[in-house]
Amino acid sequence: MDLGIRGRTAIVCASSQGLGLACARALAEAGVSVVVNGRNRAVLERSAEEIRKATGADVTPVVADVSTPEGQEALFAACRTPDILVNNNGGPPFRDFRELGRAQMIDGVIANMVTAIELVQKVIDPMVRRRFGRIVNITSGSVKMPLAGLDLSSGARAGLTAFLAGVARSVAASNVTINFVLPGTFDTDRLRSGIEITAKRRGISMEAAAAERAATVPAKRFGEADEFGHACAFLCSAHAGYITGQNLLIDGGVFPGTLG
Ligand SMILES: NC(=O)c1ccc[n+]([C@@H]2O[C@H](COP(=O)([O-])OP(=O)(O)OC[C@H]3O[C@@H](n4cnc5c(N)ncnc54)[C@H](OP(=O)(O)O)[C@@H]3O)[C@@H](O)[C@H]2O)c1
Repeated sequence: MDLGIRGRTAIVCASSQGLGLACARALAEAGVSVVVNGRNRAVLERSAEEIRKATGADVTPVVADVSTPEGQEALFAACRTPDILVNNNGGPPFRDFRELGRAQMIDGVIANMVTAIELVQKVIDPMVRRRFGRIVNITSGSVKMPLAGLDLSSGARAGLTAFLAGVARSVAASNVTINFVLPGTFDTDRLRSGIEITAKRRGISMEAAAAERAATVPAKRFGEADEFGHACAFLCSAHAGYITGQNLLIDGGVFPGTLG
């Protein structure tokens, strides 16, 4: 399917690996010029080159911490008025909520809520003026189905979802959409590091811990990052202009609700 966004520009935050990288690659395949981002220069440049080679798209790597004002400025210096913004960031580590200090809680809220809102503030008016804009926020299945130990992540992301729900309606008439994609268990470094912790804690092999985790998913497997990236690219497409304020859960059937 031609997504109808060839020649558009995108900033994809936190995209040197994992889900962000898959979103950047899928947008590049659709002919979008992408700014990719991460803090580790070597990893980021390798990923940028990989996307360039695979798609022929214009790919600009920006080494920056997206949670900081300087990092955000560096992203916009590379692409002043993006047509597409994919908000993504690292997630906080597993921790019992009793152990969270005030500074850690504030950092988590900045990473998974405030940063995305700041970026939306920067892109939204030019998008409205051009009468095209697509904003996708990568949040988490834990927004719908909480996971003990990821309470800070769930809370900050649920706050982002509620905050932007009203904003989405206020710009819908200008062909600017704001949606959320909620990953379940995707096979990325973040998932693998969680499985490694479980394996060590229980004294079992990584393979056994991974198999146990996959068995809890109705699809009986982890998601592939590319499956996530293509769903994100569709929400950024010309065809998705009537989809806004939605939470798309991609979890292989884990969430047991009938109506979502
Ligand atoms: N994988 C899953 O199944 C799953 C499930 C639920 C939620 N999520 C959430 O989805 C998001 C992406 O997960 P993932 O699995 O793709 O993670 P990942 O494989 O660990 O990749 C994270 C990416 O974000 C970059 N990054 C992290 N912090 C950054 C920062 N402050 N500034 C700029 N770049 C930053 C990393 O590069 P650098 O480290 O070099 O900066 C890397 O490219 C996370 O918030 C995660 O919690 C994932």
